[in-house]
Amino acid sequence: MQISVIGCGYLGAVHAAALAVMGHEVVGIDVDERKIADLSQSRAPFFEPGLPEALTEGFAAGRLAFSSEISEAKNATVHFIAVGTPQKAGSNAADLTYVFAAVEALMPHLKPGDLVVGKSTVPVGTARRIAELIAPTDARLAWNPEFLREGFAVNDSMHPDRIVYGLADDGNRDELKQVLDAVYATPIAEGAPVLVTELETAELVKVSANAFLATKISFINSMAEIAEATGADVTELADAIGLDARIGRRFLNAGVGFGGGCLPKDIRALMAHADEIGVGDSVAFLKEVDEVNLRRRAHVVSLAAEMLGGSVAGKRISLLGLSFKPESDDIRDSPALSIARLLSEDGASVVATDPEAIENARRVLTTVEYADSVESTVANADLVILLTEWKSFVQIDPSALSPLVSAAKIIDGRNVLDAQRWLAAGWDYRGMGRYRHEATGH
Ligand code: UDX
Repeated sequence: MQISVIGCGYLGAVHAAALAVMGHEVVGIDVDERKIADLSQSRAPFFEPGLPEALTEGFAAGRLAFSSEISEAKNATVHFIAVGTPQKAGSNAADLTYVFAAVEALMPHLKPGDLVVGKSTVPVGTARRIAELIAPTDARLAWNPEFLREGFAVNDSMHPDRIVYGLADDGNRDELKQVLDAVYATPIAEGAPVLVTELETAELVKVSANAFLATKISFINSMAEIAEATGADVTELADAIGLDARIGRRFLNAGVGFGGGCLPKDIRALMAHADEIGVGDSVAFLKEVDEVNLRRRAHVVSLAAEMLGGSVAGKRISLLGLSFKPESDDIRDSPALSIARLLSEDGASVVATDPEAIENARRVLTTVEYADSVESTVANADLVILLTEWKSFVQIDPSALSPLVSAAKIIDGRNVLDAQRWLAAGWDYRGMGRYRHEATGH
């Protein structure tokens, strides 16, 4: 099958490579020529485990190409729209400029019977507008949301836990379903369930899945606030409630909260759109979800001040982690970056490290010093704060760091360190919503 993928960001680049690995002939298209040059040489423009290998495999099979010319989409019969829908400047709404620009650029190259498949995360109703826009070309539209997680994107694309086709119920459904079944023949053969819905439901599935995940994280973070005020321990609480199969343990890790290019912007876009269509009350709770999440960042800063005798001013604070989560160099809406910014605004001298995200962070945050190793980051620190749970940080031997720091104090912003081990090595250890252990043991 000949397929084009318009937009080669986190979503499109991975999708194009995965489709080529699955056996299709794929051309990825993006207006950013540097991105295209990188991808054409199997270089991922961002850190994503497995992506360089998938690109190499696609090229080796002769089934993958990238281009900045939209006309290269002309031979494809299926066209995925995978451009970004960032938060609009000065508003909570999603910016759909790139989606409509991509569709309009594609239109002159569409042939009757082609299938345009939306993958971008959009407010409900967008698909219907695009269907009307492309109607004169006699191409058809489907909506097929993507649920991939950064860091696991290649695996999630090859082995999705579900595939959703949004197809208008206009008599062509079965025919369009067959086309999409052929696109996803490999995961379907592996047993991935397929759900066929109306366009609006498919658009909403993506947004509501992300809203649910964000709510789950903010729920446990609000319990962390209660735990902090009462002396309970939120990690033990999460283990206990997580064993209830109706609740489940995943996405119940309290800490510095969620970030990234999806959850924060998606809940805000859902609130903005719900307001616009007069059902704002239905998702008013998401405002609290957002606020609980942002409070975690401020909480880390006040905990730091408390541990440093009332103020962070003039103190040297070492940050372990900059990306919004491990196995990613993505710093969009990263809690670590906000915390770094807040600490330097309060007069701390901040030094940070990250296995992959330093270059990205350096571009947007210049008040912070960057170091290449954990050792040089913690040298002479008055306080160390773990903000992203990279494996290399989780495995740190606390007794090896003790001689390097000015004061052995650590905030575990992700509740991933072995508290007893750090305490035994003489550190003042503080987690998020966890027991206040004394260095002598609890
Ligand atoms: C998310 C969705 O999981 C994915 O299905 C969707 O397609 C895109 O958005 P992603 O943004 O890659 O994926 O990251 P995810 O793994 O969901 O983590 C989001 C944020 O939540 C991260 O900052 C992570 O650190 C945080 N998180 C996650 C927690 O704070 N606690 C948890 O228990 C889980």
